[in-house]
Amino acid sequence: MTKTHEIVIDKVKESKINSIDFSNLTFGKTFTDHMLECTWRDGEWHTAEIKPYGPIQVEPSCKVFHYGQAIFEGMKAFKDGDGDVFLFRPEDNWIRFNESAKRLAMPEVPKEVFMEGLKKLVNLDKEWVRYGEGLSLYLRPFMIASENGVAAAPGTEYKFMIIMSPAFAYYKGDVRVIIASEFSRAADGGVGYAKAAGNYAASFYPNNLALEEGYQQIIWTDAASHEYLEEAGTMNIFVRIGDKLLTAPNNDRILNGVTRRSIMQMAKDHGITVEERRVSVKELTAAANDGSLKEIFGTGTAAVIVPIKGYKHEDFKFELPTLESSYATLLMGALKDIQYNRAEDQHGWRVKI
Ligand SMILES: Cc1ncc(COP(=O)(O)O)c(C=O)c1O
Repeated sequence: MTKTHEIVIDKVKESKINSIDFSNLTFGKTFTDHMLECTWRDGEWHTAEIKPYGPIQVEPSCKVFHYGQAIFEGMKAFKDGDGDVFLFRPEDNWIRFNESAKRLAMPEVPKEVFMEGLKKLVNLDKEWVRYGEGLSLYLRPFMIASENGVAAAPGTEYKFMIIMSPAFAYYKGDVRVIIASEFSRAADGGVGYAKAAGNYAASFYPNNLALEEGYQQIIWTDAASHEYLEEAGTMNIFVRIGDKLLTAPNNDRILNGVTRRSIMQMAKDHGITVEERRVSVKELTAAANDGSLKEIFGTGTAAVIVPIKGYKHEDFKFELPTLESSYATLLMGALKDIQYNRAEDQHGWRVKI
């Protein structure tokens, strides 16, 4: 039997949108008028509510504070020149969300609740999606164990929520990276492939050390040997050697990025050879030394594409060349054209609200 999940809506009395300076946004600091909340209790999802954005009440014994059962997604809504609003590949995020839920022993969220919740919420706060280069509405679905009690066992109550934040481009300034040779982000059989909050907590300390050395990000390598490139803090990684684009294959340590898949497809559409295979630090450094290393860039929802200006691995430092026609610029433009409804949606990635 399929249960129809209704969504009840309680609107704000007055929008706060007029108090927002959209030309001066700090990423992830401003939230729209409404949020969605849906509770899982007694083995089932209850009625989802869209209500004014604001604090939620939980007790100090709430399980998420003690055992870290918390997962999230990151996705965006875009507005075109006619004022229409689109989500980008939202079903992919729903699928990944439930893969994360399964790994963290949390209940899966029904497609109807996730997709209809997103659409209704974005539609209600449509004015918060601004039209213009780099502007979007960042959507943050997440789930926490909300049961009270400090016994180390999965919760019996969960909250699925969606909050939304108007966004400009994520990264500012040049990005240089350290290739990890000591710390690891994820291990075989672990939760690296899940969007689990703890993965990010574990990366903050090594990332702070990198920042102290003047590097903005870390490219993680495989935990067993530290020989192969995996991904960055919130981005998958591409390397261009000669005219080929290389990226690590997915495994249980790497987040299966939606942007990564889209960029691989766009590259193929543009006749670029893409190889999904392991890339060793040795291969990277040999290419840096013989001049065939042209580009390194990261891909992710928040930043789309981030060109890497330079890297450090142990004692070796390298500055990437500045190219007249980079793959990063080409593919970023092509992807944005689809997201902002400026190009034909060949692969059916846009979902109109
Ligand atoms: C660890 C990690 N890798 C890669 C990505 C890129 O994934 P996506 O393109 O789906 O945003 C993200 C960001 O969401 C991330 O947190």
